Amino acid sequence: MKTIPETQYPFEAIISVEEAVSRLRSSEVVAIPTETVYGLGGKISCENAIHQIFSTKKRPFFDPLIVHVHSVDQASKLTTAWSPAAEALAKAFWPGPLTLVLPKKPFISDLITSGLPTVGLRLPRHPLARAIIEKLGEPLAAPSANLFGQTSPSKAVHVLAEFKGQVPVVDGGDCDVGIESTIVKVIEDHQQISLTILRAGQILPQQLVESLKSIEKEIKIYQPGRNIEAPGQVKHHYMPSIPLIYVDQKKWDAIGGAPEKLNKELGKTFEKIAQIQLHAAPEMAARQLYSLLRDRSMPPNEAILFIHEAHQQGDAWEPILDRLRRAATYHLLQD
Ligand code: TXA
Ligand code: MG
Repeated sequence: MKTIPETQYPFEAIISVEEAVSRLRSSEVVAIPTETVYGLGGKISCENAIHQIFSTKKRPFFDPLIVHVHSVDQASKLTTAWSPAAEALAKAFWPGPLTLVLPKKPFISDLITSGLPTVGLRLPRHPLARAIIEKLGEPLAAPSANLFGQTSPSKAVHVLAEFKGQVPVVDGGDCDVGIESTIVKVIEDHQQISLTILRAGQILPQQLVESLKSIEKEIKIYQPGRNIEAPGQVKHHYMPSIPLIYVDQKKWDAIGGAPEKLNKELGKTFEKIAQIQLHAAPEMAARQLYSLLRDRSMPPNEAILFIHEAHQQGDAWEPILDRLRRAATYHLLQD
């Protein structure tokens, strides 16, 4: 299966699972599909590979990487606190789009965790990601395969475009979930389990709480919501290559509902503003989101418009709206 225009990218940039494993073994980095977004992987035992991930992405070292595993057993060996809560969460949601932040074992490089005492662990659901990690025989550090602060890739061709064909990628088709994993920090003692949501995702806070019901401890959940500031979850994130204008429905109606009026409101002269319209079902909207942002960023478009419609609200929309707010350069809200 080949989905790239050969004229633009070297054909060798699409590689097989076997080739990916062999390159990872020799300390190279490769892009791999996961069910959330494509990741840029390097083996955790090799500092050179980890350095290469940061330099390829132009990522600051304060932003820690998620470590991907192929089994619960492999995950439990990376933390000093594989607690009953971690076990229950893994049982309920792995393989799948959930990252557990737990105290790290000392052998995990500070480069991976940005010097934090914790490590983010995820067992992905995508069969090719699982095959690669299993064949490699060691965990894989993998951030999303995009330049720092930019839109994440949900197709192999996005990775090729992002790195101009210089990063080899295993094509696993379009990502099923389409937005990054939910990240939760888990702290458990004798009496209580505390969960802190560090990044919203498809798996919702109430589902996490539900999965812990059988453990007889008090559960505390912290949801920083819009103020989430996990390292790297900076205010501007997921940004397309042209400005995104986020307008809520009331404001849109108030300014007369026409793209020309936006220019006046913003004091800009965008010649062509392309709108993105998302599917009415949030899980479908998440799947389309990054593809639409990349697609609408193409010339001659000069800006992208997202109108936050009244029906797009509730827990399942929150992770999508969170990305759009952070991706936006301009926010026009009716207060
Ligand atoms: O779905 C995903 O999670 C994708 C795929 C490839 O697995 N990965 C991903 O990685 O989104 P990245 O690097 O783009 O985002 C990971 C975020 C970091 O920005 C950071 O905020 C958080 O995870 N993180 C990682 N380790 C952490 C830790 N020990 N403590 C707090 N936050 C952590
Ligand atoms: Mg990312």
